Amino acid sequence: MLKKNILVTGGAGFIGSNFINYLQEFTNYQIFNIDDLTYASSKSVYHLQNTKNYRFFKKNICNQISVDEVIKKSNPNVIVHFAAETHVDNSIENSEIFLKTNVIGTHNLLKSALNFFQNLKPIQQKNFLFIHISTDEVYGSLKKNEKPFTELNPYKPNNPYSASKAASDHIVRAFYITHKLPVITLHCSNNYGPNQHREKLIPTIIRSSLSNKPIPIYGKGLNIRDWIYTKDFSNAILKVIKKGKIGEVYNVGGNCQISNLELVHKILNYLDKVKPTKTTYKNLITFVTDRKGHDFRYDINTLKIKQQLGWKPKTKLDQGLEQTINWYLSNTQGLKLSA
Ligand SMILES: NC(=O)c1ccc[n+]([C@@H]2O[C@H](COP(=O)([O-])OP(=O)(O)OC[C@H]3O[C@@H](n4cnc5c(N)ncnc54)[C@H](O)[C@@H]3O)[C@@H](O)[C@H]2O)c1
Repeated sequence: MLKKNILVTGGAGFIGSNFINYLQEFTNYQIFNIDDLTYASSKSVYHLQNTKNYRFFKKNICNQISVDEVIKKSNPNVIVHFAAETHVDNSIENSEIFLKTNVIGTHNLLKSALNFFQNLKPIQQKNFLFIHISTDEVYGSLKKNEKPFTELNPYKPNNPYSASKAASDHIVRAFYITHKLPVITLHCSNNYGPNQHREKLIPTIIRSSLSNKPIPIYGKGLNIRDWIYTKDFSNAILKVIKKGKIGEVYNVGGNCQISNLELVHKILNYLDKVKPTKTTYKNLITFVTDRKGHDFRYDINTLKIKQQLGWKPKTKLDQGLEQTINWYLSNTQGLKLSA
């Protein structure tokens, strides 16, 4: 039987760390994690350091020699590529690092993976897969009544982050078409769950509430996003590893579209219940100048992954949010409440 080695890039980040914890719980993969531990990384996989089936490499994917070395040492059947610069606001301030990590870093990985793949025996090649984690943001923004994005929608990224992810998607596709590297790309909607960096929306809402500080909401809070519980996304990735078709692109979403303001209200209603104050946390909501080029709405059609791979999300938003908020309430150190 072939040994199952999985190399995760960006496995100390939000989704990557949840994915590694999921692998630990539900699979017997040998797990390898390459992450440069940027400001966005969390400590949530540190407890795995001494476990037998986990090995960590603190390396930058922009360094080709490092990537070559890590791929050689981990001898992967599957590579799941999460590592990226991910915060849209940062990409508006300084897009340089987004192009470096998301485009050049991905290209480095593809080059090393291809070199590794071409030196495998045919039976091992059959068992090799490169999964590229992308975003629904590459499709651009929808108007209120427009149909959800399908995998056939044209790319129309509107900010430097989504443009850099779109560029990386194209390079991934080109390596499949040109070099026959076995790749699958996933376009995922907004994840929520434990271990997310405090700069992102849900941790910001919780951190501001617990610190009794203004909860900043862009514009009027009317922008709409689809939300998927990160455990469901991990489950989808495993399904894709088992049943996904090489060269395909799949949308993965939570089938749960909601405006930012509605989401804030849901979180604050729950906080009012479990951590009551004299008033309501809703008094802290503060509308701030809208983000430049703010996409109005994302909504993805997930029929393809449902029909072809039999995957659908399990977690209802209210249930997932409660679990997420409870986790942050018990793990406040990452929120840096005093900062
Ligand atoms: N968070 C979401 O809602 C969401 C939605 C759709 C797609 N995605 C995609 O999923 C992936 C993971 O997102 P996330 O929210 O977990 O990101 P994150 O910012 O929480 O984590 C990114 C991780 O990548 C690492 N990293 C960054 N640059 C690196 C480099 N040059 N070399 C090695 N490691 C590096 C960081 O240290 C960090 O641990 C990204 O590719 C993102 O585009 C995220």
